[in-house]
Amino acid sequence: MASKSLFYLNTLFILLLSIFCLKSSSSSLLDTETDYTRWVSWNVHNHQKRAMLRAKSTNQAPGADGKLVLDDKLRQAEMNSVRVNVSQDGTGDFKTIGEAINSIPPYNTRRVIIAIKPGVYREKIFIPRTLPFLTFLGDWSEPPTITGNDTASVSGNDGKPLRTYQSATVAVDANYFVAINMKFENTAPHVIGTRQGQAVALRISGTKAAFYNCSFYGDQDTLYDHKGLHYFNNCFIQGSVDFIFGSGRSFYENCHLNSIAKKVASLTAQKRSNSSLASGFSFKDSTITGSGLIYLGRAWGDYSRVVFSYTYMDKIVLPQGWNDWGDQRRDSRVYYGEYKCTGPGSNLTGRVTWARVLTDEEAGPFIGTYYVEGDTWLISP
Ligand SMILES: *[C@@H]1O[C@H](CO)[C@@H](O)[C@H](O)[C@H]1NC(C)=O
Ligand SMILES: *[C@@H]1O[C@H](CO)[C@@H](O)[C@H](O)[C@H]1NC(C)=O
Ligand SMILES: *[C@@H]1O[C@H](CO)[C@@H](O)[C@H](O)[C@H]1NC(C)=O
Ligand SMILES: *[C@@H]1O[C@H](CO)[C@@H](O)[C@H](O)[C@H]1NC(C)=O
Ligand SMILES: *[C@@H]1O[C@H](CO)[C@@H](O)[C@H](O)[C@H]1NC(C)=O
Repeated sequence: MASKSLFYLNTLFILLLSIFCLKSSSSSLLDTETDYTRWVSWNVHNHQKRAMLRAKSTNQAPGADGKLVLDDKLRQAEMNSVRVNVSQDGTGDFKTIGEAINSIPPYNTRRVIIAIKPGVYREKIFIPRTLPFLTFLGDWSEPPTITGNDTASVSGNDGKPLRTYQSATVAVDANYFVAINMKFENTAPHVIGTRQGQAVALRISGTKAAFYNCSFYGDQDTLYDHKGLHYFNNCFIQGSVDFIFGSGRSFYENCHLNSIAKKVASLTAQKRSNSSLASGFSFKDSTITGSGLIYLGRAWGDYSRVVFSYTYMDKIVLPQGWNDWGDQRRDSRVYYGEYKCTGPGSNLTGRVTWARVLTDEEAGPFIGTYYVEGDTWLISP
């Protein structure tokens, strides 16, 4: 209760502060929020400028739905952001991340930055659609860990198996989620030969979500890139079977993908079941390493789409590169592209005939944040 009112007080305080500043048009805020506020307005300003420039030069982002509109809801949310902190030692506003989330009124219209102190948080987190604009902010030097070990076969409260979807340690249904310097973990091991060992560390089902400097540790099905527009920057993702999977339209930049597969597995399982769907994973300037042999991708849906560009591939990548999941009809339907990759695993000699070596023109739409319509919503941290 105390925490909740603290949140509202905090909110009120910042509101008053903003009004005060507008009135006096003074830029000297005597508060720790100063830098943050300045940073936000700088960003929002830049973001508007970029979007306008972009709208002038092109009529649409490649592969987008044709409209490129400035995201007004997001601009409002950033301008009115609030900050709470979580610390297990009791020195913050809350002791658990769950409490911090519960303190936020539903249908919030402002960015809520949850600053999380270092520590291991054994919590199962669910962010419903009604809580958009949340940010998990950790320390770069010591990222907080959110950990769990649920699997698809563990029984939920209703006695039924959780299944893959509900096995996630952290699940986000809300839009505009951001995580910075966070570690997401599912420690359940994948035991070869057993079924239902899927154990998701993070599921992201909301659109316009961004992850910076985050790590994702799991075994089978680590990162459920479920649906929506997503951006991953400077992230580390580890797992064995299908450890990045789902129907998201996502851009992974400067990420490190590490396989711990004990038996031949696939790095991605992108699901796109219809050629008119916009989904697909694009990896750029990334690194693939690990100990277990892997395909770059296997086709979950008939029209599965994955592109790797400028990526270093270690020798663990199988020469064939890609897998149709035993359905040859998919060979002519999937879109599996490679562009200017390096390393022993990038040797194209043994690739399946339906793998694509992309031309500059073909690679173009996939190799920038415009692939996820970033100009309308991506605000760098
Ligand atoms: C947590 O935030 C409050 C303001 O909401 C601030 O007074 C306090 O110093 C912060 N605590 C830590 C540990 O950063
Ligand atoms: C999951 O972790 C909990 C807490 O550490 C432990 O009690 C439980 O045995 C673990 N479950 C599995 C399936 O490993
Ligand atoms: C992310 O990590 C880099 C180092 O890899 C660091 O320089 C940068 O400050 C971090 N970004 C944020 C937002 O903390
Ligand atoms: C593909 O998806 C679109 C949009 O959901 C739908 O309108 C269309 O009927 C689908 N086509 C096929 C062949 O399933
Ligand atoms: C690619 O693999 C083929 C067949 O194993 C080999 O002959 C060739 O030298 C390799 N190319 C490079 C650049 O390593």
